[in-house]
Amino acid sequence: MPRRPVVKGDGGDVPQTPGDIQEKPGAAGSPSDHAPIDASESIEDQIITVTLRPTRFDRYVGQHDVVENLKISIEAAKRRGEPLDHILLHGPPGLGKTTLANIIAREMEATFRQASGPTLDRPGDLVGILTNLERGDVLFIDEVHRLSRVVEEFLYPAMEDFAIDFMVDKGAYAKTIKINLKHFTLVGATTRPGMLTAPLRERFGIVHRLDFYSVDDLTTIVRHSANVLGVRIQDGGAQEIAKRARGTPRIANRLLRRVRDFAEVRSHGNIDEDVAKAALELERIDLLGLDPLDRSYLRVLVEQYVGGPVGVAALAASLNEDEGTLVDVVEPYLIQIGFLQRTAGGRRATNKAKHYLGAPSASEHPRLL
Ligand SMILES: Nc1ncnc2c1ncn2[C@@H]1O[C@H](COP(=O)(O)OP(=O)(O)OP(=O)(O)O)[C@@H](O)[C@H]1O
Ligand SMILES: [Mg+2]
Repeated sequence: MPRRPVVKGDGGDVPQTPGDIQEKPGAAGSPSDHAPIDASESIEDQIITVTLRPTRFDRYVGQHDVVENLKISIEAAKRRGEPLDHILLHGPPGLGKTTLANIIAREMEATFRQASGPTLDRPGDLVGILTNLERGDVLFIDEVHRLSRVVEEFLYPAMEDFAIDFMVDKGAYAKTIKINLKHFTLVGATTRPGMLTAPLRERFGIVHRLDFYSVDDLTTIVRHSANVLGVRIQDGGAQEIAKRARGTPRIANRLLRRVRDFAEVRSHGNIDEDVAKAALELERIDLLGLDPLDRSYLRVLVEQYVGGPVGVAALAASLNEDEGTLVDVVEPYLIQIGFLQRTAGGRRATNKAKHYLGAPSASEHPRLL
């Protein structure tokens, strides 16, 4: 899922070039504290994402253990008057890694700067960013597993010794200069912690995994989002959306907007349980939150490959789908609900999944994430 970093400027959201960074001062709730957003979303999605993104721990629902641990790390660092240790956040897309990185910077009263792994091709792309960091600043690198090897190696001394060796000029005139950096905090986010090299992983002092959210937590998020968006929703409606959101806040927010459209046309804008159910059925989101791609994946695995084991590359080819999408987006939730196992020999459908397929099948449809 290739993405470009996006910065929110005065004139709106502007795609960034590799070395670009984003500064994020400002008080909670002010427009300037809106975080940069995922460029794979539509403009409307992007606006909603920043509008709904919590900016403080007390608005960040769920992930209790991660939040408590981070609060302690932050409090301890503040008491010592020291910057935070480097932090790695990992977990499936849409669970709140970027949101959390923003909150960390805010709680540390630090400036938030952002870059994205795939756009940092050469060490030169990082030099400007690193040398502009002040003590305590938070540098957020999204998709940190997609950093090129040379950039990654360039980062090691920056993270460990807060110094970089930078080559200037070429050929006979080439020389290396050492630049000292301020003591910054790197916050890395990844959907694929297993793809990080050991030396990079070891340089993060704090590592947290975000898990799928409970229905209760997602119901709270849906109710809050409805409130912000000025949507009328009953408890039953919020719960119905939460149940079908695949444990993911981003999907919950997106489903809410689909249901809102439906409610505006069919029920004077009020979302109750029946309206939510009817709208989500129209979207072909089933009772477990599975969408047409999830169902196609399961059908190919169970029917074409007789339940597996089969490699993900073969599944991707059969589905004509990007392998990364299957690994990052489709599989984690199927594993979570006990439909799929990743074994040494490949992917295997469980009996639960086979049983589920007795239900009516669905055809291709665009994904919601
Ligand atoms: N704990 C939470 N409480 C309330 N809302 C949340 C929470 N986590 C995420 N969200 C909502 O979900 C949206 C997606 O979160 P975010 O962009 O931080 O996910 P992400 O993990 O960075 O995803 P990706 O891996 O795709 O970059 C946010 O806009 C926010 O509205
Ligand atoms: Mg993100």
